[in-house]
Amino acid sequence: MHRIVILVSGRGSNAQAIVQACAADSWPAQVVAVVGNRPGAAAFEMAAGHGIATALVDHTRHASRAAFDAELARVIDGFAPTLVLLAGFMRILTDGFVQHYAGRLLNIHPSLLPAFAGLHTHRRAIEAGCKLAGATVHIVTPTLDHGPILAQAVVPVMAGDTPQALSDRVLAAEHQLYPLAVGWWVRGQLQVDGGVVRHTGGAAQLLLLA
Ligand code: GRF
Repeated sequence: MHRIVILVSGRGSNAQAIVQACAADSWPAQVVAVVGNRPGAAAFEMAAGHGIATALVDHTRHASRAAFDAELARVIDGFAPTLVLLAGFMRILTDGFVQHYAGRLLNIHPSLLPAFAGLHTHRRAIEAGCKLAGATVHIVTPTLDHGPILAQAVVPVMAGDTPQALSDRVLAAEHQLYPLAVGWWVRGQLQVDGGVVRHTGGAAQLLLLA
């Protein structure tokens, strides 16, 4: 049984999609905690509603990034996770933290990486005239929004899209993509070969929603 800890900063809609898929699809896994860095994050309420433990590690109460990450790791490790998921966790993590969870730390990013790492992905995609946008689930490495890709979802950028409209379309895709990729992970269906992740059963690692 995998023990999953989900890190959040706000709304937690991706965390909710994971929690629901874990139960509905009988993953060999349990979401053991939702850990966040912002008091009052909606994700805490969602987790509590599902009977999942929550913990707050408030970054504003730590003098340095390293001190925050050390406390965050201490709290996470208290739940003895085998897998840690970033789901809208809006803090840059130190190399030490990432190394500590090497190979068991995943992230979802709202762009087709390696394009548009970092913030404001939807505005940047529209301004660049992209016709496609999407989301990526990847293994976290010390480089921000970089690492072996488990799966990607592609959606169209429509003429006249606002960043919000595109964000809504990508978020709906994220809610399919993240559970799909994590489901493969907990069932042991993925093989990491250097920088490339393959589904051992040949499942399509691309969700074409365009
Ligand atoms: C998602 O778009 C995620 O990809 C990004 O932040 C957003 C979080 O949304 N990193 P939510 O908190 O999961 O609803």
